[in-house]
Amino acid sequence: MTRLASGVLITLLVALAGIADGSRDIAGDILKLPSEAYRFFHNGGGGAKVNDDDDSVGTRWAVLLAGSNGFWNYRHQADICHAYQLLRKGGLKDENIIVFMYDDIAFNEENPRPGVIINHPHGDDVYKGVPKDYTGEDVTVENFFAVILGNKTALTGGSGKVVDSGPNDHIFIFYSDHGGPGVLGMPTSRYIYADELIDVLKKKHASGNYKSLVFYLEACESGSIFEGLLPEGLNIYATTASNAEESSWGTYCPGEIPGPPPEYSTCLGDLYSIAWMEDSDIHNLRTETLHQQYELVKTRTASYNSYGSHVMQYGDIGLSKNNLFTYLGTNPANDNYTFVDENSLRPASKAVNQRDADLLHFWDKVCIQQCT
Ligand SMILES: *[C@@H]1O[C@H](CO)[C@@H](O)[C@H](O)[C@H]1NC(C)=O
Ligand SMILES: *[C@@H]1O[C@H](CO)[C@@H](O)[C@H](O)[C@H]1NC(C)=O
Repeated sequence: MTRLASGVLITLLVALAGIADGSRDIAGDILKLPSEAYRFFHNGGGGAKVNDDDDSVGTRWAVLLAGSNGFWNYRHQADICHAYQLLRKGGLKDENIIVFMYDDIAFNEENPRPGVIINHPHGDDVYKGVPKDYTGEDVTVENFFAVILGNKTALTGGSGKVVDSGPNDHIFIFYSDHGGPGVLGMPTSRYIYADELIDVLKKKHASGNYKSLVFYLEACESGSIFEGLLPEGLNIYATTASNAEESSWGTYCPGEIPGPPPEYSTCLGDLYSIAWMEDSDIHNLRTETLHQQYELVKTRTASYNSYGSHVMQYGDIGLSKNNLFTYLGTNPANDNYTFVDENSLRPASKAVNQRDADLLHFWDKVCIQQCT
């Protein structure tokens, strides 16, 4: 989108965002083969126990959060729903996956496929079965922090599920939304500030209730959440969609190749998010390390010509030698699909800056309504 078109549309966007969601005051923008050992230990019950490497015991936990609402932000909730499906196929149980999503997309009047959310142009429904732990007004910073800390008394509303983890457990947190320097968006109330998130992570570490924690973060300026703030020694490894000073990018947007099915006026996913998930979807995750995935996602999300961002890593980088299996489990259907660098997914031909993704939605709408 040209600067001029953006300029013309920004007024419209601000006006529409103001009408659609008075509580949001930043217009959405500042903002190998399977080892015999595995066969021996695996009870076949799809349990979430970690039986690999040096991690002989423990449970996998996950917290998934989409920080936006509104149909033009379709992609963030689509990312989160996709992550849920991935983790379930990986063997995690519902009781160990806590989902935060506003839940205004599947049955949104603008959704061309009512009750369905897709995260890829030819993708299956990722909405089916997603637990409605914290939805609508219950998607708050306070609930997010209470869930991470496992503090039920600090919850307001929601399912009451928290990360009730012990010292041998592994925690995976994935957040997708808009952000700005030092802040992450939320669909309600107030935003998440980097310093308070780091304090919560320090508190969780001090409680001794995890072995290691992996945080995947999709947002503009997402590097600013951890850069210079996340200390080493907390057994936390984080990767972010962008560095501290740049946008992250939406993808499968109208006008892109590949783009969404023609009836969609919105982006279906975010570049970093779909990069790690589409990789995880197809591989035996016992044979792929966090570091290998980081390199792959970095390449796919990198700047080619006019778009892309710098995927970053923070915290205890040494943890990235762990297999993804430790955090995400693995889909038994992928047992014969070993990760090798050569079967990395290719980058998309074009993507849309997170900031322009919203504008694109409105541009597409205006054009559909006025030009056809
Ligand atoms: C849990 O949250 C409540 C209410 O915010 C607070 O008073 C209490 O200290 C918290 N408990 C722990 C263990 O952090
Ligand atoms: C993996 O390959 C083996 C040997 O060819 C085969 O017996 C097994 O069914 C395959 N597993 C999956 C999940 O496709």
